[in-house]
Amino acid sequence: MKLTELLGIELPIIQAPMAGAQASSMAIAVSNAGGLGSLPCAMLSAEGLRKELDAIVAQTSKPFNVNFFCHAAPVADAGREAAWRAALSPYYMQYGIDPSGIPAGPGRAPFSAEFADLLEPYQPAVVSFHFGLPPADLLARVKSWRSKIFCSATTVDEAVWLEAHGVDAVIAQGVEAGGHRGMFLSDDLSTQVGTFALLPQVVSAVKVPVIAAGGIADVRGVKAALALGAAGVQIGTAYLLCPEATISAIHRAALKSDAARHTALTNLFTGRPARGIMNKVMRELGPVSNLPPAFPLATTAIVPLRAKAEAAGSGDFSPLWSGQNATGCKQITAALLTRELAFGL
Ligand SMILES: Cc1cc2nc3c(=O)[nH]c(=O)nc-3n(C[C@H](O)[C@H](O)[C@H](O)COP(=O)(O)O)c2cc1C
Repeated sequence: MKLTELLGIELPIIQAPMAGAQASSMAIAVSNAGGLGSLPCAMLSAEGLRKELDAIVAQTSKPFNVNFFCHAAPVADAGREAAWRAALSPYYMQYGIDPSGIPAGPGRAPFSAEFADLLEPYQPAVVSFHFGLPPADLLARVKSWRSKIFCSATTVDEAVWLEAHGVDAVIAQGVEAGGHRGMFLSDDLSTQVGTFALLPQVVSAVKVPVIAAGGIADVRGVKAALALGAAGVQIGTAYLLCPEATISAIHRAALKSDAARHTALTNLFTGRPARGIMNKVMRELGPVSNLPPAFPLATTAIVPLRAKAEAAGSGDFSPLWSGQNATGCKQITAALLTRELAFGL
């Protein structure tokens, strides 16, 4: 079934939820333009989530997606934290940072009963998950509101697992994609494949609709994904230069520059592999290392370096999330971009 039929929307375009990079205004613009706008919730407090949901229902009557992470909460490991800070110590010295005084970094909270309580009155058309699904009782609650359940899969095995656990659609996330890998059955990066290798294999393996994500930047990419059997597409990176995106000027400049042609998967910023534009800390300590603490604890130690470097106009320690194809990034409104992505379909 096509995504447009499944949700009663006009265009088969999902604006990818992008925690830390956008909030309700982008979701509202895309839903009102006929696509499916998404609200990323992984970095929101309970109060923040309620405010964003209120803003959405006040400004659109169209379907929208609310997105959560589903990682297992990590156990803090003092030894690992110390080893990671030791690896960063030359940079702390360079910037005059006292590592003993670093406050806990921005967390990323998994979906919980508290979030479900908050969400229930809004009953969004779609609730999507990254890093697997929540526990069965919580998933059953979300389903009882008739919200459709979507979840990222990065391998055929994950797609089959998600279908067996009751999702309404699988998001096939190819390795080109910007931001975090949604991988949850394995942490072996050699299992990660490109969108156009993954998509047809997932389409053959499951009966539920499959949404293609990763490296799709313009209508040619959308058409190619649909030709390979996708019910719709989920696009993130291309929306990052829209005025509704909340990323820094440094991140915007990197996306506009030739530097955006060189991205890599890195676990240095959060503890989980995610794709971003190559920068100094990725080159010198990674891009992948076994030193950072478990997701999302690794975030804390690097935050003060990022702050100092950014204050000096540098993205050397910033997560410059981007997919492998940033050529679709345009400084136009999210509504216009959504229309362009579906032009002539
Ligand atoms: C800045 C950024 C943040 C992201 N944050 C999330 C998130 O919070 N939840 C999620 O499910 N996916 C997240 N993703 C991944 C997207 O859902 C999607 O897989 C990806 O953007 C598709 O590839 P593309 O960036 O090449 O279009 C993020 C991607 C980017 C670029």
